[in-house]
Amino acid sequence: MAAIALYKSVFAQFAFCLLTLAYIFRTIFQRIENTVHSLQVLERNATTNSLVPFSQDFRVHGFDIYWDNLDPTELTFMFVNHQRKGSAISIFKHRVGAGFIEHVKTVKSPLLFSPNDVVATSRSTFYATNDLRHKSGILRKIETLLGMPWGHIVYYGPEGIVSKARSGIAYPNGIARSPGGGLIYVAASSEPSVYAFKPTYDGALQLAGKTTFRSFVPDNISVDAATGELLVSGFLNTLEMFRYNREVLFGTDARPASAIRRLIPSADARRRFAEESILIHSGDLLPSTTIAVVQRRNNVRRMVLGSVMADHIAICEYQQ
Ligand SMILES: *[C@@H]1O[C@H](CO)[C@@H](O)[C@H](O)[C@H]1NC(C)=O
Repeated sequence: MAAIALYKSVFAQFAFCLLTLAYIFRTIFQRIENTVHSLQVLERNATTNSLVPFSQDFRVHGFDIYWDNLDPTELTFMFVNHQRKGSAISIFKHRVGAGFIEHVKTVKSPLLFSPNDVVATSRSTFYATNDLRHKSGILRKIETLLGMPWGHIVYYGPEGIVSKARSGIAYPNGIARSPGGGLIYVAASSEPSVYAFKPTYDGALQLAGKTTFRSFVPDNISVDAATGELLVSGFLNTLEMFRYNREVLFGTDARPASAIRRLIPSADARRRFAEESILIHSGDLLPSTTIAVVQRRNNVRRMVLGSVMADHIAICEYQQ
């Protein structure tokens, strides 16, 4: 009931999310250029120096794309790569217009035991979230259900060393950075909150701010580069979300309600966010929405919703 009332009021205030399009994933990725689905994944053969198909496992999870003003046509792709022999972060480079990404290196470390998402801070450095301490089994389930603060964030620095940048976080999930790179944002699903951290000289993350939610479990974060605002997508009913994830391959009637919150960084030193709910849906629009991203092109502003568990995306009009 409360959810329905909230739904109505939010909808009345921000009656802008018209579901304009929903595509089947495969179709869209086959048609749109410059997604990784249409890019060949290659590596350079050390002896012949020619490009050949990437020979390692490539089983991806969260990823990030980095570029800077030095050469904006060279993009760096970083993927959480759950290789069978252990999880890693795989780094590739891509020249805008080329039909492939070329492997640069794959970073492995005992500290990367359960990576979920990665954010690049340069062409070769990154932060990644490790959501849980246990890789599998009953302990992993218990850890999730009890919301133990056992997750941590790792830093891969310019010397090529992986270190713990921050520990004691309950299920660190999505990670993103502010437009200037001065802050790193992390969604901690089991707290449930969003952190703002300031990177220090050695890569450690210093607390700069934190917003804790009520009845909202944040999953992933995107940053609107034009405004610096955060879009946080999350769940309103985690049990229904777990049921959906369990059953979705076999057909399910679970409808995990989701919401998008907008966090507006403030100029003051305490770095409190102003927070507003910009979308609530019952789970029919895009079950288990895990990401919302603002797309700006000329005068068109849209919000693209995605989910790790769904076979389609949703595109909404976005007002601000
Ligand atoms: C989280 O969102 C970012 C966009 O801000 C995306 O690049 C990344 O792949 C997402 N992570 C997961 C695990 O879906």
